[in-house]
Amino acid sequence: MINVIGLGYIGLPTALAFATSGQDVVGSDCNPEVVAQLRSGKARFNEPGLNELYAAALEQGVRFSDHYERADVYIVAVPTPYDKFTNKVDATQVVKAIDAILAVAPQGAIIVVESTLSPGAIRKSVRPLLLQRGFKPDEDVYLAHAPERIIPGAMLRELRKNNRIIGCDVPEIGEKLKTLYSAFCEGEIVVTDVQTAEMCKVVENTFRAVNIAFANELARICRYEDMNVYEVIRICNMHPRVNILQPGPGVGGHCISVDPRFLIGDYPSIAKVVAAAMETNDSAPDFVLERIREIMRVEGLVDTSRVGLYGLTYKENVDDVRESPTLQLLELQRRRLAQPLNAYDPYVTRDLVERQFHDLDAFLDANDLVVIMVKHQEIIDAMDKLKGKIILDCHNVCNLPNAYRL
Ligand SMILES: NC(=O)c1ccc[n+]([C@@H]2O[C@H](COP(=O)([O-])OP(=O)(O)OC[C@H]3O[C@@H](n4cnc5c(N)ncnc54)[C@H](O)[C@@H]3O)[C@@H](O)[C@H]2O)c1
Repeated sequence: MINVIGLGYIGLPTALAFATSGQDVVGSDCNPEVVAQLRSGKARFNEPGLNELYAAALEQGVRFSDHYERADVYIVAVPTPYDKFTNKVDATQVVKAIDAILAVAPQGAIIVVESTLSPGAIRKSVRPLLLQRGFKPDEDVYLAHAPERIIPGAMLRELRKNNRIIGCDVPEIGEKLKTLYSAFCEGEIVVTDVQTAEMCKVVENTFRAVNIAFANELARICRYEDMNVYEVIRICNMHPRVNILQPGPGVGGHCISVDPRFLIGDYPSIAKVVAAAMETNDSAPDFVLERIREIMRVEGLVDTSRVGLYGLTYKENVDDVRESPTLQLLELQRRRLAQPLNAYDPYVTRDLVERQFHDLDAFLDANDLVVIMVKHQEIIDAMDKLKGKIILDCHNVCNLPNAYRL
């Protein structure tokens, strides 16, 4: 039996994927509301295909509980935030979950951490816990790290199609896990050691963060020269060995905006490029705010209450607002005691910010300057409605003549 611990964006789809591939699965979450909602027949968040997978998994007998159960394999998918002062991973919730697993795990159980960790975290934080509780690591219970790299908006497709990393210091157990995951994973599954798996996950996201920071820096250089950064990048990317990502209003979410910090926290005197990149990305919302002020000056707009931010989520076509650049921008505005800007997002139905709209037409009516912070399909399909507005397009999706670029 598999016990999946933590039923959020990662744990829930993973539990459902295992259940629909024929495994006996119980999903556990410490939040009783999460368990109650899942038991009542409702998936917890929007994700293409999730409701269908959920229904299929229920038919296969998946269960949800606020307790941990005796299982052969435990999959831990609890949050791993970073400590804002040290930039180090905060593995407290992983350690707590594993402590609770040890209270019920049988001899020989395998504990797979899917949560993102910094390189060496299992050695430094989890192995000592096992020893303290009287378990010999990789003898009484086995430890593995199978970092998840799926992207919101395409989670279920990527769960099946992505290549996977299994890190385990006991190769036979790594191979056993490879067989287990291959029940639903069609990608290549690489078995390596635990610390290499930890490092690879963080390095992948750091690579993207640094590349995005480079694009953001290019956007500022091109702004200085009044050039089109998107055209520069498009032409450069025609070179066979160049692949620059796109600039944007900031980096959010739970991976690219967080994981690189683990390298900065653990290797402060070495990870210099990473630190500079994060600084550039972190200052992107501030750059957008400056752009808004500049455009207002050029256009002769004085009324900030008629400036609206389109999009509150951290990326397009999802409802996840964690580390969202729009929220960061609104917070900057608040700290400067400036008048709050209007905001709207079709995916965010609950009231999250002060001057939030819940209808696109009402939002557009209320604003003279519209800032496209997120390229939701809704706004791409409604470009005609932006005619006559002043637009700051942070994603190069608007080809109207009245659109300003970053
Ligand atoms: N969300 C993503 O896109 C994504 C992608 C790749 C990797 N990750 C990583 O996956 C991990 C989980 O992220 P998430 O987005 O699924 O988090 P989440 O906040 O959506 O869900 C985590 C769940 O774990 C539960 N939980 C916390 N402590 C628990 C405990 N001790 N026992 C049982 N349940 C517990 C919470 O109640 C919550 O429901 C993180 O390390 C994250 O960095 C996330």
